[in-house]
Order: sequence, then C-alpha cells, then structure tokens
Amino acid sequence: MADAARFKVQVFNQISANGLKQLPAERYKVGKDVAEPDAVLLRSADLHALELPASVLAVGRAGAGTNNIPVKALSARGVPVFNTPGANANAVKELVVAGMLIAARNLAPALAFVAALDTASPDLDKAVEDGKKAYAGYELAGQTLGIVGLGKIGCLVADAAIKLGMNVLGFDPEITVDAAWSLPAQVKKAASVVEVLRHSHFVSLHVPLVAATRDLVNADNIGQMRPGSVLLNFARDGVVSDAAVVAALARKHLAWYVCDFPSAALAGNERVVALPHLGASTREAEENCAVMVVAQVRDFLEHGNIANAVNFPAVAMARESAHRVAIANANVPNMLGQISTTMARAGLNIHNMVNKSRGEMAYTLVDVDSPVDAAALAGIAAIEGVLSVRYLPLRD
Ligand SMILES: NC(=O)c1ccc[n+]([C@@H]2O[C@H](COP(=O)([O-])OP(=O)(O)OC[C@H]3O[C@@H](n4cnc5c(N)ncnc54)[C@H](O)[C@@H]3O)[C@@H](O)[C@H]2O)c1
Repeated sequence: MADAARFKVQVFNQISANGLKQLPAERYKVGKDVAEPDAVLLRSADLHALELPASVLAVGRAGAGTNNIPVKALSARGVPVFNTPGANANAVKELVVAGMLIAARNLAPALAFVAALDTASPDLDKAVEDGKKAYAGYELAGQTLGIVGLGKIGCLVADAAIKLGMNVLGFDPEITVDAAWSLPAQVKKAASVVEVLRHSHFVSLHVPLVAATRDLVNADNIGQMRPGSVLLNFARDGVVSDAAVVAALARKHLAWYVCDFPSAALAGNERVVALPHLGASTREAEENCAVMVVAQVRDFLEHGNIANAVNFPAVAMARESAHRVAIANANVPNMLGQISTTMARAGLNIHNMVNKSRGEMAYTLVDVDSPVDAAALAGIAAIEGVLSVRYLPLRD
C-alpha cells in the first residue's frame, strides 16, 4: 500500500518534464531508481523481462501501444495499465495533410529535380523554369477525401480537410458517440470501404491493425478507386496490400501511395512516398502523452478513478466523502453483494458506490462515512475474486 504522505513513481524512460511536474514533490517521490514504487511510468521499455514489485499499483504508458507491458499478468494482480489514446492524433493529422500536399503538388519528384540541378550553372533560372512544368499539380480545395476509420485521428483529419475546402466522405461501422459529435456536419457518411474508394480523390486510412482490417485495401478492391487517385496510409503497414498498390501504380490507376511504412515491395517505386514512421514523432505529441498519462496515474493513485486503462473499465466518481475504498475484482456474480455485506459487518456506512466491468475485470469504488481500518480491508481482500483493495483517505 502507498505511503500515507507520499507516492513513489519509478520512471523507466525519458518522460517529458511537463508531464512529471504534475506530480508535486511534497506528495510524490519520482525517479528512475525509486524502490518499491506505487506506479511506474514508461514509454518503450520492455517490462516483460522485469519482475515488477508487489508494491506497483498502476503502470502508465506514455503512448498508445502496450505490447511492451505484460498486461495479462498485471490484470491478474488487479493493476491497471494506462495509455494515452489520441495524444498523438494531431501529429498524425498534420502529416496526413502534408501527405496530400506532397502528392497533389508532386513535391517528391520536384525536390529530386532541384537536388539534381547544377546550381552553379548560368542557365539555372532557365533550367528551373523549363523543368517546373513537369511538376505542376492541383489544389486540395474541391477534392474529395475519403476517410476509413473515424476515431481520434480520422476525426481530426476530417476537420482539417473540411477547413481546407475539401469534401469529406467517411466510413466507420463502429464510430463512437463522442467521435460522431466531434465530426464537422459537412462530413458525408459512406456505407462501406468500397463506397469510399469509388468516390474519393484521396483515401486516408485510420483504422487499427486487427484481423478485420488486414489488407483492407487489396487487389480485389483497389480497382474501385478513382483513376488518378491517391492512397494515404498512416495507420499500419498491414492495412494495405503493398502488392496491390504496386500493381495499381504500375497500371497508372493509382497516382500516388503516401505512407509511413517503407517496405521491400515499395522500395524504389517513383510513385511511392514512404516516410520512416514519423506520424507521432513530434515533441508536442510526446509531451501530450506524458501530461495525459501522468494525470491518469495520479487520479488513480489519489482517488482510484480509472480513465484510459487498456485492461479495466473507465470508472470515475466525484468525491463526496473523505473515505474511499477501491477494489479490483474478477467479473463474477455476487461480488457487490459480498463487498457491501463485508463493509456493513465492519460497521461501515456506504455513502456512494460505482461498479463497472469490462471483460473479465470489474472495478468498484465505494465511499463510506468513516475511516476504514486494516481489518475491514483484510475482510474485503479475503473475498474470493478480489484482486486488490486500496483505502484512499482524502488528504489536504
Ligand atoms: N503513423 C503513426 O505513427 C501512427 C500514430 C498513431 C496511430 N497510428 C495508427 O492509427 C490508428 C488509428 O488511431 P486512432 O488514435 O485514431 O485510433 P481510434 O481507436 O481512436 O480510432 C480507430 C477507429 O477505427 C475504426 N475502425 C475499426 N475497424 C474499422 C473498419 N474495419 N472499418 C472502418 N473503421 C474501423 C474504429 O471504430 C475507430 O473509430 C491506430 O490504431 C494506429 O495503428 C499510427
């Protein structure tokens, strides 16, 4: 259990100072060599090989992917693993806009042309004027952008495109209510990926790589794209079939493929612009991730609230009492009954309570009217299926 006056946070990677400064020194001890930490913060450090001490109550990943973290083992201990969905969305959005401009204005070959110019030549101006004709492009305003996947990134891309004067057509069969609210009203709804491909000058993919999205754009449907259109992939390499792209570029059906994922199949293709996975590589995105994950871990340590944990439901309850108990438990019947009975036997009066489940995990916050002693906590911990119990008295 956490020290009464001070939480200890072990930091495995460089986490932006603006994030860490949200942990006030009078209450938090933060460092890379902190022993018996209450929480660990990391970016890409591999936790699989490490034995995390039993003191660890939370793991915070400044970023989206959590495959460097033993999530299943931590779930069994009742430890939430936090990440930062959307914190890098603006960075990706801006690169998508750049990708559209790179394609529309032929910037890649134009830069190669300039790099090959003899700038010492007295005929430089003439060479520039003669050469530029080959790179004339078109403007984005008035073009249609099709977006597959209207999550954190897709919605920002839609908004930016509308502001650039583009028409936007979007497809997402599982769009969230929040995402739908955040979309500009001008975005038109498509009923399928093929509808997006058929009607767009640019198609940008913003889906996760899962079984259903592997080769989402493939040899069977790439021919449905408008002749001369541009495909952008800043999602994951497996979402697009490189072989289908190369074939569509060869028959000049597709004008450009702009992506964040170089591969052997794409190498050397003049109509491919491949960036070295730069989508989230901005200092702002790094900072956003750090600020977000630190806020989430702090809210969990101090109040037991959970936002953006990959293995737990989102649970938040406003504090109306100074005495709160946070319980992680297996999602099995009659847990709430047993918890409230155990608390009643310990003489605790429940003021407020929230319980949410997600898959095999459940999480309960209980505010009670009086302090909770060790015997009451031990009683709750002894209930079969309870994975962790914490008492979170409100301090100044
Ligand atoms: N290039 C980079 O550096 C970089 C950076 C961040 C994220 N990404 C990638 O971008 C993806 C999207 O990121 P996000 O933050 O917007 O995620 P998100 O979870 O907010 O949004 C993903 C959206 O895709 C939708 N979706 C899932 N399957 C779909 C399907 N078959 N058809 C249409 N829509 C579908 C979901 O409903 C969801 O709305 C990430 O999963 C990641 O792979 C890449």
